[in-house]
Amino acid sequence: MERRQAEIPPRGERLYEGKAKVVYATSDPGLVRIYFKDDATAFDGRKRGTIGNKGRLNARISAHLFRVVEAAGVPTHLVAVAGEQELLARRVEIIPLEVVVRNVVAGSLARRLGLEPGRVLEEPVVELYYKRDDLGDPLINRAHVRLLGLATPEELDRIEAMALAVNRALRVYLAQRDLILVDFKLEFGRTGDGLLLADEISPDTCRFWDRETGEPLDKDRFRRDLGGVEDAYAEVWRRLEATA
Ligand code: C5P
Repeated sequence: MERRQAEIPPRGERLYEGKAKVVYATSDPGLVRIYFKDDATAFDGRKRGTIGNKGRLNARISAHLFRVVEAAGVPTHLVAVAGEQELLARRVEIIPLEVVVRNVVAGSLARRLGLEPGRVLEEPVVELYYKRDDLGDPLINRAHVRLLGLATPEELDRIEAMALAVNRALRVYLAQRDLILVDFKLEFGRTGDGLLLADEISPDTCRFWDRETGEPLDKDRFRRDLGGVEDAYAEVWRRLEATA
C-alpha cells in the first residue's frame, strides 16, 4: 500500500550495485530502497551508454506495472514509490534465475531456433536462464535448476505459474494501451513467508511494440541503435499514466 513520504525509511548502507540499479538497506531490516540508474548496458555489458530520464521512467513504469500484477493476485516486492527514481521494496533473497516469457518471436528466440521475428506464438513460451554474468546467463532447464540447487521443484512450479499469471495480466492491460507485450524477463525472491516477484518490469526488461506501427518502444532501440530511446520510454509511461 502507498506510504506517505514521511514513512519512507532513509537510505542505509549500499547492499548491491548492478548494471541498472543500486539497492540500499534502510533502518527497517525488512525493507530496501532501490535506486534506478540512467545507465544502460546490453550484450552482457559490452555496449554501454546512458538514457536520459531512464531511472525516473523505469521506477515509475515498474511501480505502475507491479500494481497491475498485484491486482491480478501476484505478490510483488513493491511497497511504495520512494522518490524521483527510487522504490521502497521488501527485502528478498533473489533466486539467480531469469524467467523469460514470450508471446511473439523476437530476440534470442528468433536467433536460437531460426524463427521469423514477429510470429505470434499460440501458447506463451517460458524459458529459464541462469543469472551468472561470468557464464553469459545460459539457457537452462528444470533439471539444471535442480542440479545447481537454485530452487525446489515446488518453487519452480510456483515461479512458472506466477510468470504466466503476470503475462496474462500485463498482456491485456497493455493491449488496452495499444502496446503488444512481445516478451519480458522476471526475477523472483524468497522471503520468510513465500516467493515474491522482484526486480523491475520496464522497457529495459520487456519488449513492447506499438500496436499500430509495430515499432519497438523498449531497450531494443538502444541495442539496435534505432534512436529515440528516451522518447520511447517516455511514450510507454505516457500511455500508462494516462489511465493511472
Ligand atoms: O534477448 P532475449 O530475446 O532472450 O530477451 C527476452 C526478453 O528478456 C527481452 O524482453 C529482454 O529485454 C529481456 N531480458 C532482460 N535481461 C536479460 C536478458 C533478457 O531483461 N539479461
